[in-house]
Amino acid sequence: MSDFKKTARELMTGFCRVCPVCNGRACAGEVPGMGGLGTGSAFMANVTALAGRTFNMRLMHGITEPDTSVSVLGIDLALPVMAAPIGGVSFNMGGKRSEEEYISAIITGCKQSGIIGCTGDGVPPFIHEAGFAAIAAAGGYGIPFIKPWEDAELYDKLAKARDCGAVAIGMDIDAAGLITLRKMGRPVSPKPLNTMREIIARAGVKFIIKGVMTLEDAELALEAGADAIVVSNHGGRVLDHTPGTATVLPGIARHLKGRLAILVDGGVRSGGDVLKMLALGADAVLIGRPFSIAAIGGLTEGVENYVQTLRTELAQAMVMTGTASAASVPASILYHAD
Ligand SMILES: Cc1cc2nc3c(=O)[nH]c(=O)nc-3n(C[C@H](O)[C@H](O)[C@H](O)COP(=O)(O)O)c2cc1C
Repeated sequence: MSDFKKTARELMTGFCRVCPVCNGRACAGEVPGMGGLGTGSAFMANVTALAGRTFNMRLMHGITEPDTSVSVLGIDLALPVMAAPIGGVSFNMGGKRSEEEYISAIITGCKQSGIIGCTGDGVPPFIHEAGFAAIAAAGGYGIPFIKPWEDAELYDKLAKARDCGAVAIGMDIDAAGLITLRKMGRPVSPKPLNTMREIIARAGVKFIIKGVMTLEDAELALEAGADAIVVSNHGGRVLDHTPGTATVLPGIARHLKGRLAILVDGGVRSGGDVLKMLALGADAVLIGRPFSIAAIGGLTEGVENYVQTLRTELAQAMVMTGTASAASVPASILYHAD
């Protein structure tokens, strides 16, 4: 990965420093850019919440080749990882790659590595258009996320997302606070239960609500008919001062595990982080910024290389904790002080 990271550092100059540890410190407040909003505390909280969890090492067992595969939303994944939806290469990443080059590297690189990539949305049409085109070119193997627009824009984009053959569609409901969009005449808004129910019914495919940080919202997502939630604070980009996602995940999973798919993102960087999130109750994780760096630095090859690294790290962490299958990870692999 080091060559890809070096190239990414050059191409993303002024937008991302490609730090040795991607933790939101150097880029605090850089939105647009790759940082977290305001003080950057919500981005940093994601990383510190995960770093605060540690493993119980277990070596008296016979597990040498753990099974990293899972099936989520009917999608078979070689490891429990998806590339998170990220858009806006020109104003977030420096624009040295085109939106099309970037998103097709994410979608193709993920597909060729046995996982799935997601695509983002925003004000300029080229973001969702590039995403839908990449997913269509991959035979529908991708998940487009649409912002919680009001009225016609929402239903128009939902129809287009369905038309590209996507296996599932998501909504980053946590983008509802972007008041700048309303000022630009492109309002987004929170969605009450009935509206959400109608949106999901009209989507007509498996539906994911992203941006759930409380048990209350998770239960409403289930009631509205969502097939999955993403426990997420949007990488700390929509509200300063939220807890880290690894902090709120167990409370949500304890009540809802098995009733809908529980995905999570925020600060996941390594295979060990993936395993921690599974032990805290997730069925799979999304990873954001490291995939962007891999795609900008090495396009499809960079993405494939990053997935391979994650898989090796995950398998190693599974052996070292005595975990046989990623589909069933006990909470007891994490250390709890008595
Ligand atoms: C530059 C940038 C753009 C993003 N654009 C979107 C988007 O269009 N839709 C969306 O649902 N999330 C978007 N996100 C949030 C990510 O999907 C994800 O929740 C977040 O990056 C996870 O945290 P991590 O980067 O620490 O892994 C964006 C994040 C970044 C950094």
